[in-house]
Amino acid sequence: MTASILDGKILSEQIRSEVAQELTEFVAKTGVTPCLAAVLVGDNPASQVYVRNKQKACEKAGITSQLHRPPAETTTEELLALVDRLNRDAAVHGILVQLPLPKQIEETRVLEAVNPLKDVDAFHPENVGRIVQNRPRFLPCTPHGVQQMLLRHAIPIAGAKVVIVGRSDIVGKPMAIMLMQRGRGGDATVTVCHSRTRDLPAVTREADILIVAIGQPKFLTSDMVKPGAVVIDVGINRTDGGLVGDVDFEAVKEVASQITPVPGGVGPLTIAMLMRNALTAAQLQCKEC
Ligand code: GUN
Repeated sequence: MTASILDGKILSEQIRSEVAQELTEFVAKTGVTPCLAAVLVGDNPASQVYVRNKQKACEKAGITSQLHRPPAETTTEELLALVDRLNRDAAVHGILVQLPLPKQIEETRVLEAVNPLKDVDAFHPENVGRIVQNRPRFLPCTPHGVQQMLLRHAIPIAGAKVVIVGRSDIVGKPMAIMLMQRGRGGDATVTVCHSRTRDLPAVTREADILIVAIGQPKFLTSDMVKPGAVVIDVGINRTDGGLVGDVDFEAVKEVASQITPVPGGVGPLTIAMLMRNALTAAQLQCKEC
């Protein structure tokens, strides 16, 4: 069996056009144009590409975007001052601090400083807490994109055995919480694996839906996949052989029933969900609404 491909580009365009339509209605009703401010500290090449793609998506969606580029040697205090300025600027509805930050910066303090109403990444502890309690304000972009991929392809989530490989704050942890919640897009039985998991292949082979987010090129091999499983690859690794995911795509596609490619899988959905959150941020802050 060769897996069918879960195309993130097509789905991303669909979601972005839904957001653009809702945005047009919002602007017509309120006269407010949503604005997203991105903060990119230093010149990490991958981050530069991501931020550029996010800005292009804003432009297409009708969202105003700002780019703030403090130098690599910026201090925590200097970055906090910038975040404070953006928090107080009523014209800015969403703030995105691109990660990773340079080593000298206290990431936790910076993410906690973002006004929770402008926190389009959903990294602020208040927003994380709301997600855990199943009353989200924003959903984190990558896990939300994965959930939409599953829902919009009518892949059964309720009752499914989901195995997530990776326990990061950005993907693994929120993904697990979202898929285990009661209700639409949830009700799964979720297992989270990590570097200390004993007999990882035995655990991943149990999965109906296998989500891999550990940042190691081609980590997931075909012997780790149950025949017919759905495989979602969140990895984006730059190697000498080009961009590759965390899944050994060529081998795993012969075992899985459905699989996301890299590039063109989860990545474009992350950006679509960011556009969703930028509009939500403007809606939350709109006094006339
Ligand atoms: N770096 C990698 N993924 C992300 C993301 O979703 N948001 C931000 N701000 N930085 C990232």
